[in-house]
Amino acid sequence: MKVKLAGKVALVTGASRGIGKAIALALAKEGCDVIVVARDERGLQLVAQEIGAMGRRAVPVRANVASLNEVKRVFDLVLEKFGRLDILVNNAGIIKRGTIEDHKDEDWELVMAVNLKGTYYCSREAAKIMKSQGWGRIINISSVAGKIGDIASAPSYGPSKAAVNALTKSLARELAPYGITVNAVAPHAIETEMTAEWPEEKRKAIIAQIPIGRLGRPEEVAAAVVFLASPEASFITGEILDVNGGYLMD
Ligand SMILES: NC(=O)c1ccc[n+]([C@@H]2O[C@H](COP(=O)([O-])OP(=O)(O)OC[C@H]3O[C@@H](n4cnc5c(N)ncnc54)[C@H](O)[C@@H]3O)[C@@H](O)[C@H]2O)c1
Repeated sequence: MKVKLAGKVALVTGASRGIGKAIALALAKEGCDVIVVARDERGLQLVAQEIGAMGRRAVPVRANVASLNEVKRVFDLVLEKFGRLDILVNNAGIIKRGTIEDHKDEDWELVMAVNLKGTYYCSREAAKIMKSQGWGRIINISSVAGKIGDIASAPSYGPSKAAVNALTKSLARELAPYGITVNAVAPHAIETEMTAEWPEEKRKAIIAQIPIGRLGRPEEVAAAVVFLASPEASFITGEILDVNGGYLMD
């Protein structure tokens, strides 16, 4: 079977588990070598082993995307190991729950630092490399919360993702002349450790609002990312693509 992305080099943040892991594996299946970045060393090693077993190169790097020094170290390593970068997937993200009264300022700072600043730092380093190549794909994992706000109290999460959407569109305009597309995927209610904490009643209430009638799977988000990275998506940029079972149709 012909793979879509043979010989491409991809970097996926937050790739030790959940959606990021599914994206890293899906890109490897389509022919990419993958740099997998996250905070959890053990999870990264396991993902790298799976990619290696597919016959692709995988480089696991433990790093915090909210730290500029650590992001720079990651991209130095990318150039050292591969000499290029074709696809960046900004997937690392966190949520801190709480009402507006009890949401701590530190939580606000942390959520913005990981979800927004991490995306900004990685995009900036990737853009430098991709501009020199005249080709690149940047794909940000946003959320339905970036369009409609949070469905449960988490006052910093929706705003961080709304800003990711605006950053996606801003960079899409700026980088289009260099052959770089910038898009986002906005999932809702995907089965991962982030949503595993939901009590049964809440899970049922959330599913009741999803026309497809179930939670999404990480692989279904990964499929949208592979499409946006593929040659078939060459005329798509600045798009925020819903992967939400019909929960929001905008
Ligand atoms: N699960 C959902 O229903 C859902 C819905 C909408 C959007 N999203 C978004 O999808 C993305 C992935 O979500 P998930 O459910 O797989 O989450 P998860 O909590 O299962 O995994 C998060 C990953 O990000 C990494 N990470 C966290 N902080 C980091 C940091 N500072 N630096 C580097 N890596 C870091 C973790 O190590 C882990 O690999 C997030 O951006 C999330 O906001 C998830």
